[in-house]
This record gives sequence, C-alpha cells and structure tokens, in this order.
Amino acid sequence: MKIFLDTANVDEIKNASEANLIDGITTNPSLMAKEIKRTGLDSNLILKKITKLVSGPISAEVVSKDLDGMVKEAKKLKEIAPQIVIKIPMTFDGMKAVRRLKKEEIDTNVTLVFSANQALLAAKAGATYVSPFVGRLDDIGNDGMNLVGEILTIFENYNFKTEVIVASVRHPKHVKESALMGAHIATIPYKILNKLFNHCLTDQGIVRFDNDWKDAHK
Ligand code: E4P
Repeated sequence: MKIFLDTANVDEIKNASEANLIDGITTNPSLMAKEIKRTGLDSNLILKKITKLVSGPISAEVVSKDLDGMVKEAKKLKEIAPQIVIKIPMTFDGMKAVRRLKKEEIDTNVTLVFSANQALLAAKAGATYVSPFVGRLDDIGNDGMNLVGEILTIFENYNFKTEVIVASVRHPKHVKESALMGAHIATIPYKILNKLFNHCLTDQGIVRFDNDWKDAHK
C-alpha cells in the first residue's frame, strides 16, 4: 500500500521524505490555509516547495464550485509541476470537470466521498483517485472502513482503474485496516505517521539492550 502524507506543512514533508516512506502528498484548502498562516507564503509557492521534496503525486484542491472555474483553476495548478493531481469535490459539476480534465490527461482526485455510489460516479467520470473520508464518517456514528470495503468491491467487480485513497485517517488502526483490505493508498497526517513507529515493547527493548550493554562495559 502506498502512503501519502496528508499535510501542506513543508517541514513535516521534509522530515518524512528523508526516510523515503512517502509516496505522495494530499492537501486541501484547510491544510493549505494553515500553512499559509504558518509561513506567510502563498499557496503556489508552498506547492512549488512541496514538489521539490516529493517526486510522487501531490493533490491540490480547486476552490471554485462551477465547471469552468474548476477547469481553469486546475490548469493553473497543473502549471506548477507535472506531478500535481487536481482535487475535485464530489458534485455534478465536479464530475464534469473530471471528465474534461481526463480528456486533457490531467489526473484527478475526487474528494469528500462519503458513499459507494459517489465513488462509482467518480470512477465512471474517469477519476484517477477517489478519497473516501473514513474519520468523518466514524465521527457521525457510521463505519468509515466499511465504505472502503464497498468501494474496493465495486471497483474490482467492474475493473475500474481508479485508485482508492483512504482519507480522513484518525489513528493507526485505520492504516492497518486499509492495508488488510487492499486499499491502494492511505493518506495520513504527520501525527499518525509518527504513531505507526511506536510500540511499548520496542521502547522497553531499547532500554534493556542499552542497560545490558552499559553493564558489561562498566
Ligand atoms: C484528504 O484528502 C483530506 O485532505 C483529509 O484526509 C481530510 O481529513 P480530516 O477529516 O481530518 O480533515
């Protein structure tokens, strides 16, 4: 399973990419706004910096709601670097934009997907990726990972090439379940990436080895 980092924070991306564990990046207007406030840089410059750190796909979201506006914005974003993927919200106009962009060979990531039918429509429109938001579904008492399973089954039934990005990841269990289900990608916040390294027995083991080593060298 590929791991994307769900952040626009350039320092986090730099740190994570040093271990070569990151296959791509997803951003959204909220994450971008946070980074704009933190750095004082504009969003294009932030994206440019990210493209220098990561060679894989980098999702940048349009903020226009209408078809022409979305397509125009997409083309501008695409000028930043070839690896930019255009994040489009799951709306009727959004799917028309996906269709138009596909004709121009521009990759898209359909975002804010909360049902299997939405994912089916996105795949039929020609989306490169769909992003079911599992954490936000869990938040309202639904089962986010169940949706991922449904989408994977539908895509397999009809041999869709669209890849599933498990998004709105809240804890390591979401990551493990994504991998067990065979999701193509999980996009995870930096805080969760750090949690994936942790195990109390690893910490205890390091202390014990250290103590034994020091004891023998007194
Ligand atoms: C994914 O593409 C989104 O940027 C993100 O995962 C949303 O996560 P949130 O529900 O924690 O805001």
